Amino acid sequence: MTKHKKLQDWVNQMTALCQPAQVVWCDGSEREYSAMWDILIKSGTAKKLNESKRPNSYLVRSDPNDVARVEDRTFICSQKKEDAGPTNNWMDPAQMRTTLNGLFKGCMQGRTMYVIPFSMGPIGSPIAHIGVELTDSPYVVTNMHIMARVGQAVLDFLGTDGEFVPCMHSTGMPLTAGTKDVAWPCNPANTYIVHYPETREIWSFGSGYGGNALLGKKCLALRIASVMARDQGWLAEHMLILKITNPQGKVRYIAGAFPSACGKTNLAMLTPSIPGWKVETVGDDICWMKFGADGQLYAINPEAGFFGVAPGTSLDSNANAIKTLYANCIFTNVAETDDGDVWWEDMSKEPPAHLIDWKGKDWTPASGTPAAHPNARFTVAARQCPVVASEWEDLKGVPISAILFGGRRATVVPLVNEARDWLQGTFFGSIVSSEKTAAATGKIGELRRDPMAMLPFCGYNMASYWQHWINIGKKQGARLPRVFYVNWFRKNDAGKFMWPGFGDNSRVLKWVFERCEGTGAAVETPIGMLPTMDALDFSGLNLDKAAIALLLRVEVDGWLQEIPMIREYYKSFGDRMPAELMSELDQLESKLRAAKPAAA
Ligand code: GTP
Ligand code: SPV
Ligand code: MN
Repeated sequence: MTKHKKLQDWVNQMTALCQPAQVVWCDGSEREYSAMWDILIKSGTAKKLNESKRPNSYLVRSDPNDVARVEDRTFICSQKKEDAGPTNNWMDPAQMRTTLNGLFKGCMQGRTMYVIPFSMGPIGSPIAHIGVELTDSPYVVTNMHIMARVGQAVLDFLGTDGEFVPCMHSTGMPLTAGTKDVAWPCNPANTYIVHYPETREIWSFGSGYGGNALLGKKCLALRIASVMARDQGWLAEHMLILKITNPQGKVRYIAGAFPSACGKTNLAMLTPSIPGWKVETVGDDICWMKFGADGQLYAINPEAGFFGVAPGTSLDSNANAIKTLYANCIFTNVAETDDGDVWWEDMSKEPPAHLIDWKGKDWTPASGTPAAHPNARFTVAARQCPVVASEWEDLKGVPISAILFGGRRATVVPLVNEARDWLQGTFFGSIVSSEKTAAATGKIGELRRDPMAMLPFCGYNMASYWQHWINIGKKQGARLPRVFYVNWFRKNDAGKFMWPGFGDNSRVLKWVFERCEGTGAAVETPIGMLPTMDALDFSGLNLDKAAIALLLRVEVDGWLQEIPMIREYYKSFGDRMPAELMSELDQLESKLRAAKPAAA
């Protein structure tokens, strides 16, 4: 238990508000984990998978109306609207508190309120931070066990007055007298994912799914942490972290920001297709970076597990993920096979003849609907990954040599280019755009700006966040990572991906590594340093010269068409827009114009 007065007071206050039938303090033990599954199986929420196929693993089907993050129900409630900025939903905090007090009042009647103390990052790391989530969802408890460090050890670390972020969560379906429970309680009509950046609080109501409900993840580790990072001079980013070792045994660490469902988990676990190179995983979704005494940025993965996109994951695309999933997993909204195991689209070349789909209905290949929901997810401990780096839990973090930005772009953006310096890297990050995926509700495929892959995750004004990036670059004595802009998703006229991606992305990582060493060849272009035609190792790839030329080309006209759109976008931030980025844009435009006669 705890002697932390502030924590006790808060739990008491929330108990009075939510009126649960009982309060349980989570200890993070195995016994507690299996007790949760007993409850979830009894309530019809979960099904245990075939023990001989997938030991100690569970299948959960959510309500079909609660399947992804709800960006239009996510709010940043700063005192001033302009502090949330034009890319966030804002509501006056006092008004929001009134709304939420009304919703949370009695919302846990007939249910148990679980108190989950959790550490984001290895307990005791100077880069880590602590949260406490109160929830009425035993499913959330099981996932938090895997995704964070949970339990008594965290309370012990907190002591009597340690700092924690209070995270309030309810599925929003009280069991009042006469109410019959459902397998997946939720309240889609009244869903609110709310952040108070000034007081560093999170209040989430009505959804039990993923980032809406596992509050350590996007809510704390990105939206609230980005505000803490701004105030304290560090970076909280939506990035994977990988360790790469060259054939001579030299190690570097690379972080990469890609929007949701755009390849972070895949890149973090990649099996290189080029001989002699090794890639190992430090993190697959979130990266916290603080300066070390040597001026380098040291990164930790604040999470303890992977909450990964299941569809598309196969032995071909990501063998290490498949191997990670051998046991002790939670699968949400995947399909169930006749022998009590799981399946999702592209897991095997041929789909099974019969399945139970994510909605619990019979499914055959003739059904014409996906068997697994496109945002179906697995939850699994990082330590199960066969290529997890031995230092993935190092308290001091790992020094980052390079940062990659990327998105899904069918056109214009080349396979890779390198920023001249940190400022141009910040500029590239700020203009990343990507086609929308199933990771959030809404229209899929639409192109939108997703700066630094943080559009749905920045807890304050995006332009001020860019300013923070610029300020990081001006820190005295900083030894900053190099910054690259990559695109695995270029398509040809037939609409097919031009770049094989996955393990072949190691070819790009190799060039990035070599650039850090000062060896990789590059030419200066209006959009930064591009690899020369022979700088990338394309050996053994079935790519003709024309395709390579296209992947590495500066599309002057395409970029010139983007300039007014970027200008328009920047304009939406008004006075908050950093002058340095405006000037980067001007420089880019004039360099492109100067290059045009030659390109024509
Ligand atoms: P979140 O967990 O939502 O943040 O996603 P993520 O960024 O970790 O994406 P993930 O690695 O799970 O990949 C999402 C989808 O992109 C999957 O369907 C992958 O198969 C696909 N994908 C990943 N890498 C590549 C690539 O290099 N090329 C292509 N064409 N597809 C890729
Ligand atoms: C994402 O959408 O970027 C995810 C999944 O990683 S969730 O945890 O639901 O945000
Ligand atoms: Mn993510």
